[in-house]
Amino acid sequence: MSDHIEMTKTTPLDFLMATVGGLAPPLIPIILITLLVIGIQHGLGTPDPAPLADQAVRDRIKPYGLSVAVDPNAPHVDRTGEAVYADVCSGCHETGALGSPKFKEKADWGKRIAKGYETLLDHAFKGFNKMPMRGGEPDLSDLEVARALVYMANAAGANFQPTLKKEYEPSAAELARGKAVYADNCASCHDTGLTGAQKLSDVKAWGPLLKEGKDALYAAAINGTYAAAPKGGNDKLSDADTRNAVEYMVAQVRAAMPAKPAAK
Ligand code: HEC
Ligand code: HEC
Repeated sequence: MSDHIEMTKTTPLDFLMATVGGLAPPLIPIILITLLVIGIQHGLGTPDPAPLADQAVRDRIKPYGLSVAVDPNAPHVDRTGEAVYADVCSGCHETGALGSPKFKEKADWGKRIAKGYETLLDHAFKGFNKMPMRGGEPDLSDLEVARALVYMANAAGANFQPTLKKEYEPSAAELARGKAVYADNCASCHDTGLTGAQKLSDVKAWGPLLKEGKDALYAAAINGTYAAAPKGGNDKLSDADTRNAVEYMVAQVRAAMPAKPAAK
């Protein structure tokens, strides 16, 4: 007897099943990847929702987060008295803090208004007891301080106009004289910064001094300060020549300053 193994005949169906079954494992990832790619391409056609959400967030935080690029060289524009008051003076005067005369309070302002506009303006510029110089905001222009003062005083019954004293304008001859006096008596310190003198080229150091006004500078140059001798140490120098030198210095400093065409 012979052993014989009965082979079943392979039918075409068996063949097909085997082929598909063998191909299926590699085919599944291929199909999935294809679907994924199609999905991505489809997604590209629809608007991306992210910028919309981003815009919504920006709109929501705008009142708090709005940042304005400030150009330090931009020309200064004088604000209204109301705006300066709201920004600076109201910090104390709205409530009467530190004993300040309260906004619109005639009883607080009456006696002060009687001092007259010039005196009040002087106090607003230089400070007065607990009232800080320029309300503590040295960047305010003269005109802005004057407008804010007028805004407050008029709200309490005054009838002031925000005028500024015109500062002395030296003639060309006085400036030329000042230049010579400066070279002989002042340059030794103010060209070099010797003994802590403000160098003429140091615009930053002179900015706050100029704000005090020329009268204050004349007085400092003529009478001296705790750190500077009267008339640069030359007691033969006349007051007039000392003033001419100051005029020359102020003109030099102003010429070196970045343009600031605001009405002053
Ligand atoms: C930090 C608080 C404070 C701020 C800010 C402030 N003031 Fe005053 N101010 C005072 C006080 C305090 C007085 C009262 C001083 C006194 O009479 O002793 C006063 C008084 C004054 C007076 C009256 C001076 C006088 O001779 O009677 C004027 C004018 C004035 N302030 C203007 C201003 C202006 C203009 C601003 C804004 C640019 C301003 N103040 C901002 C505190 C302030
Ligand atoms: C020996 C050095 C020296 C000479 C010379 C000199 N100064 Fe000064 N000057 C100083 C010093 C130091 C300061 C700073 C004073 C201070 O900060 O209080 C100063 C400050 C000043 C100021 C600003 C004052 C202020 O308000 O603080 C003026 C204006 C001035 N000098 C004018 C003159 C004039 C004008 C001359 C010439 C006639 C002159 N100086 C000569 C040393 C000098």
